[in-house]
Amino acid sequence: MKGLVLSGGFGTRLRPLTHTGPKQLIPIANKPNILYCIEDLRDAGITEIGIVLGNVMPEKVQEYLGDGSEFGVELNYIVQGEPEGIAHAINCSEDFMEGDDFIVYLGDNLLKAGIEAIPKMMKDESADCVISLFPVREPQRYGIAELSPDGKTVLRCVEKPREPKSNLAVIGVYALNRRFFEVYPRLKPSWRDEYEITDAITLLIEAGYRVVPHQVEGWWKDTGKPEDILEANHLILDDIDSSNEGTVEKGAAVVGRVKIGKGSKVTGRSVVRGPVIIGESCNIGPNAYVGPYTAIGDRCQLSSTEIEDSIVMEDTVINIERKIVRSMIGRHSRIVSSNGLIPKGERLIIGENTTLYL
Ligand code: DAU
Repeated sequence: MKGLVLSGGFGTRLRPLTHTGPKQLIPIANKPNILYCIEDLRDAGITEIGIVLGNVMPEKVQEYLGDGSEFGVELNYIVQGEPEGIAHAINCSEDFMEGDDFIVYLGDNLLKAGIEAIPKMMKDESADCVISLFPVREPQRYGIAELSPDGKTVLRCVEKPREPKSNLAVIGVYALNRRFFEVYPRLKPSWRDEYEITDAITLLIEAGYRVVPHQVEGWWKDTGKPEDILEANHLILDDIDSSNEGTVEKGAAVVGRVKIGKGSKVTGRSVVRGPVIIGESCNIGPNAYVGPYTAIGDRCQLSSTEIEDSIVMEDTVINIERKIVRSMIGRHSRIVSSNGLIPKGERLIIGENTTLYL
């Protein structure tokens, strides 16, 4: 069995963070979403993986993941280019699949329980497709599955229905086989002008192939919007263990589950209250408070600042006597005090599509 991870799409809802790279590389608890997908595939015994590249700086994905050996997998890159839909992205992998069964993982989906049950189900049930389902509050935002009354058979799947027939979202992990490529030529673009995976699954059902539903356990997140990423950060930090490869100076306090990376320092009466992850070579202090559910990337410097429930990406400097909450701060940012500057006032140098709550 092979794997396929999708890293295309525009990432519009995550601008400005996606002006400088694909959304699948935004760190969640200091690790890009796409790497969680690759690790889940690897842990399910799937090491031959195709990565579908889009057109938002695809070279950044290649640069980060390389040939995959660092993560115990063998990666092959497949170019999709323009995002014409998930089914289109999958169809681009036909040559790579060579007729094998495969698991598709959307690079912006995260699953607590991993995916080990899915390849087993594909085999045990002699299925042509296994879809994974999760109950959601806003079914209009997702692909939705309609099941038979006994819940064993998938009747059809509909993309973002206006009047959903169920609350079961078809999440972004699909087990498929060569039948997918057989029905693909019959697929038509949808109302949003995309070749939808949900329509391809309905075509498989209509052609009489076996599509089996799998109920996902634990939590599932689609990290397409900033609030979803913060929520995913929260969920992952809930499970971290403490470790300290850095230094906590006398006078500073580290409380609860906190992971501190190599060469990082907590200094001068600072307080870190977990769950928190701090990357490598960071300076936290003097007088910093890093509160629960915060992830701080490598080489950040935080002083005279309070922050919680936030993601701070690499190489960022924060020094303001204010509290930052529920924020996402991109790489190489500087948030510093305007005290003492003339004329008085907030000074902003911000990129396109930025949101500030001042
Ligand atoms: O997250 C689950 C949902 O994902 C499903 O319930 C929907 O059925 C499915 O269509 C999808 O909906 P989204 O509207 O959230 O899809 P999005 O455009 O965000 O794309 C999902 C992933 O696939 C993302 O990692 C980008 C990648 N992608 C997307 C398109 C359209 C590609 O690689 N190429 C593409 O052409």
